[in-house]
Formats: sequence, structure tokens, C-alpha cells
Amino acid sequence: MNQKELHLFVASQSYENDLKAEIRFRRNLELVKQEENLFWAIGPKQKLWWPQWQLWNLQSTKFESISQAIKFLRSRGKLWLNFDYKLHRRSSLIQEGLPKWKIPVIKRDEKTLFRDSGAWFLEDSNTLWYTNQISLPFKDGIINIPEDKMAPSRAFQKLDEAFVRIGKRPIKTSRVIDLGSHPGGWTWVLAQLAGKVVSVDTVALDENARNFKNVEFIKKDAFKIAPNDIGPLDWLFSDIICEPAKLLDLVHQWKSSGLVKNFLCTIKFKGKVDFEILNQFEQIPNSDIFHLNANKHELTWVCLD
Ligand SMILES: C[S@@+](CC[C@H](N)C(=O)[O-])C[C@H]1O[C@@H](n2cnc3c(N)ncnc32)[C@H](O)[C@@H]1O
Repeated sequence: MNQKELHLFVASQSYENDLKAEIRFRRNLELVKQEENLFWAIGPKQKLWWPQWQLWNLQSTKFESISQAIKFLRSRGKLWLNFDYKLHRRSSLIQEGLPKWKIPVIKRDEKTLFRDSGAWFLEDSNTLWYTNQISLPFKDGIINIPEDKMAPSRAFQKLDEAFVRIGKRPIKTSRVIDLGSHPGGWTWVLAQLAGKVVSVDTVALDENARNFKNVEFIKKDAFKIAPNDIGPLDWLFSDIICEPAKLLDLVHQWKSSGLVKNFLCTIKFKGKVDFEILNQFEQIPNSDIFHLNANKHELTWVCLD
């Protein structure tokens, strides 16, 4: 395989077609090989929206013995994640010879410190692929958020995961709004972090999210709320089920009010992904778009202060 600007994109389970469509949409990427959820592509380095993990600018080397492979990796970096690809036994013998490090335990109100790491895997018993350019320093690119029985819905995992990923979250002095909040997973997370949570849905919140002193619930169509009626906000969250174009209009409305510092919204798709509209979201300055482990047929858009 050509080593020049070769990347490996790992699709989340069930979202292989979305990733494949994205690679096709990006005209400067050429798909050279697909093996189930693994997509090898050549082209300029770029951050895609759909992959679970991205290994950019892969290089390969030949080696004879396990100790030679260990020595090689050690000479090129300190922390290495093995991507489970082929030759599991041989791979684990190599990994055992590399410095051990703990993947951080995810805690809601603590900033997780990422450490610089690379990823490697074996193609055959004498060929090792490696790179120091990876999208996330987590095994297979997955940030696992444990379940919590107290949460009104599993959607809470999206927020906890996104906060780890962006390295930022509301703090005790923050004023935030949660649009499309029922049954209340996001509001439940936000109530534990922020000072004040305005929570909006046409359907009432579940008890576990309602019973926080700092939560004010407004039973209303979120598209009919005027930014000026709410006032300055540190964060706007939206998990509303709606067409991406409708969400984009809402975002523009709040953005142009100048009242909101940070945005975090789920862009949901019915059927085919609208890649053109994703471009429009991404063109908003300071934007990022990614597919969380907890995301379904949807992407997370963030725009940070
Ligand atoms: C995926 S659910 C949100 C889950 C929520 N984030 C949680 O953590 O539990 C989407 C919500 O959007 C709400 N929704 C849809 N259209 C809305 C609108 N126009 N105004 C307010 N809420 C709306 C629905 O009632 C639904 O509760």
C-alpha cells in the first residue's frame, strides 16, 4: 500500500455506510481498501465527521522479532495503543513490552487529562503499522461512559462523553439552556455541573431531572423561544429531534443574538446524511463536528467560545 498520506478510518458499528458516504463526499480522499468497518484512504490529512477513530499518516516498517518491534516503537514515542486488527497473540506480546499507562477514568466534574500517544497494529507477522497522529488517545477511539441508573435517559452519556472530548464543560457559575430536554438525561447532567439550567421541551421532565433547585423547566416549543427572553447564556444545548436545516436556523438565531458563548447540539438524520448542511455547520467559526460513541444516526456539533 502507498505510504504517502495513508489514513485508517474506523467506523462505529452500524455507521459504516455513513463513513463510506462521507469519504465519497470528500473529493480529495481516495478509498483504497475497506475491510468491514475499516476504511483505508489516501489524500491530505483531514478530520472526518463519522469515524470512531482516525489514524492519520500511517507508516509501516518490517521487523523480525518481537523485541525488535518493541525497540522500534519505544524509539518513536512513549505511549502506544494497540489497535486490535490481526495477529492478536503476537500483538499482545509486543504491547506487553511497551510502557504501561492507564486510560483515565471518566468523572463528570473533573477535567480528563489526555496524554500524547500513538497507535500501532500488525498487518502480518513482520509488518508493523504505526502513527503518532490519532484522533483520540483512547483504545479504539472509544470513550466509554458507564451507565447510571439515576439518569432519566441514556442520552446523558452523549453529554458526558462530549465534555471529555472537548475538554470543557459548564461550571458552577454557568447559566445554560437545554432545548428538547425530555425525559431529562442532559438536564440531569447539567444540573450537577452548572449554576442555572433552563430546560425546554413540549413534554414534561422525568422526576429525577425535575427535582433540582437550579432547574427551571419551560413547557414550550423550543423554536418559539426568543433569545432576549432568556438573557445571557454560557452554553446552549440542543438534542431536539428536527431537520438539520431547522436546527441550523435556530443556531444562527441564537448566535446572532450574541447572548450565547458555547453551543453543543445534536444534528439528527433521517435516512441519508446531508453532507452539504454539515459543511454549513462547520463553517461557523470555532466549530467541530464528531460522532460520539453514544451517538446514533446523528452527529454532535460544538462551537466553543
Ligand atoms: C432525543 S429527545 C431528547 C433527550 C434528552 N436530551 C435527554 O437527555 O433525555 C428529543 C426531544 O426533543 C423534543 N422536541 C421535539 N421538537 C421540539 C420542539 N419543537 N420544542 C421542544 N422540544 C422538542 C421531544 O419532545 C423530545 O423529548
